[in-house]
Amino acid sequence: MDINRYLADRKNAVEAFFEQYFRKVGRPVVLREAMLYSLNAGGKRIRPVLCLASYEACGGNSDEIVPYAAALEFIHTYSLIHDDLPAMDDDDLRRGKPTSHKVYGEAMAILAGDALLTEAFVMLTDPLLGPAVRPDNLLRAAGEIARASGCRGMVAGQAQDMLSENSEPDEETLRFIHRHKTAALLRASVTAGALLYGGAPGVIDAMDRYGQNLGLAFQVVDDILDVEGDTEVIGKPAGSDEKKKKMTYPRMYGLDRSRDMARAFVADAVAALDAVPLAVDPLRELAFHLLGRRH
Ligand code: IPE
Ligand code: IPE
Ligand code: MG
Ligand code: MG
Ligand code: MG
Repeated sequence: MDINRYLADRKNAVEAFFEQYFRKVGRPVVLREAMLYSLNAGGKRIRPVLCLASYEACGGNSDEIVPYAAALEFIHTYSLIHDDLPAMDDDDLRRGKPTSHKVYGEAMAILAGDALLTEAFVMLTDPLLGPAVRPDNLLRAAGEIARASGCRGMVAGQAQDMLSENSEPDEETLRFIHRHKTAALLRASVTAGALLYGGAPGVIDAMDRYGQNLGLAFQVVDDILDVEGDTEVIGKPAGSDEKKKKMTYPRMYGLDRSRDMARAFVADAVAALDAVPLAVDPLRELAFHLLGRRH
């Protein structure tokens, strides 16, 4: 299969939904603009695509859940806007463009993030946006995404990431940070697709293991790209982790071992898929694609 084509098609579906959605958002115009600026700045749209791919793997038609998948990109984009703030990673470039606070100021960047996060749950609690989905399945998926985003998920990871700046890396803390700040939402993106479809418990478990390992690999690769990527290619300032003395895989293990570990996480992710009799080719291909990514 052509994974680039697969990604591009689903990315287009999600981006078309953004356009349509924002027609209903009014004043203040600058808030709407700031939300759209970061959403439309680009991005791989990996979380929504994973959600669509997992729904499809279960047998669903992904057109039915585009709004719910798009909500994952709202949450992710909020997390990037806040991650870049001067009080956090203090970065000036994101998705190849000046960061939100550089363009709109800190107050509006914080509020655009708040609004994107909240709006995601407006979408995830609206059964009319996906009438093919059973409301109890939607509720389960929304709960999973909420847990993965908050103080038991991404926010916990971001908090520990901040608390661990300048400290000597230790395996347990490093693993906690990566599991929470990044793997939690990636894992939930995958399981949400299966939950929206109403997948059997065995399927949800397999998606969970796939998503978790894929998420860990994803952040290890992100750490590696921070060291050896070019700012123009990664679209964000290379060397940002070093500057802030972040607790990362390359800092703990060096680049070679980090690469091996990313490969091992992907192998584990792919092995989880073998346990289920589903159409998992795109999920498998996505895992390898993300391991080899340059941005
Ligand atoms: C960057 O995420 C932040 C991490 C959690 C590693 P992505 O690499 O998915 O960023 P975009 O959405 O493509 O810009
Ligand atoms: C951030 O990790 C993960 C988020 C939840 C946003 P990083 O701080 O490494 O992400 P980048 O490198 O700025 O995209
Ligand atoms: Mg950060
Ligand atoms: Mg950052
Ligand atoms: Mg990073």
